[in-house]
Amino acid sequence: MTKKLRIGVLVSGSGTNLQAVIDACQKGSLTAEVAVVITNKADAGAISRCEKAHIPWQFVDHRLFHDRQNFDNKLIEILREAGVELVLLAGFMRILTASFIDSFPRAIMNIHPALLPAFPGLHAPRQALDYGARFSGCTVHFVDKGVDNGPIILQAVVPVLESDCEETLQARIQEQEHKIYPEAVQLFAEKRLTVEGRKVRILPPAPGSEP
Ligand code: GRF
Repeated sequence: MTKKLRIGVLVSGSGTNLQAVIDACQKGSLTAEVAVVITNKADAGAISRCEKAHIPWQFVDHRLFHDRQNFDNKLIEILREAGVELVLLAGFMRILTASFIDSFPRAIMNIHPALLPAFPGLHAPRQALDYGARFSGCTVHFVDKGVDNGPIILQAVVPVLESDCEETLQARIQEQEHKIYPEAVQLFAEKRLTVEGRKVRILPPAPGSEP
């Protein structure tokens, strides 16, 4: 049996991207398992998704730690204990310290609701609308020490419609997020991602691994 990649997911909100990853693992399109989910919000919707899928989760309240480093040390400890090989940020509303990034070299991914490097930061769909962009989308990237900055793995383009408001654009972007995040994780699981400077190279599938 193929060894499954052990994933740790950090979330602060509803966790629809977490759900997409859980679903892909259950369907078998992702040869991975969610080993642990950590949330910094006691009321995160992600918690009930974990309960339903019997996935271990922990609530770690960042307000109880006197600095970022201590909070991140706790996250590292939990992820290590769970044997996590890849960390996914899925709507995690905390900035990670350099030592967290260094603890999982080239093994932290994030999903951002815009075509980076356009519209980094918060409220990206609203930024795209306010700017008058005709196209936006989403980006899965490796996390480095800058915010929404690391090497780009996959992107999906979403047209901005005349009739769009922030909610409708965000909803169509999220549909694409739910496709490309599990795809990017599967490429990692198959060891098909290499990074050269800013560029991520996607290697062809190993011989004999194609359906
Ligand atoms: C997503 O839109 C993602 O791009 C951003 O945070 C949001 C999380 O949504 N980083 P959800 O909790 O996965 O529904």
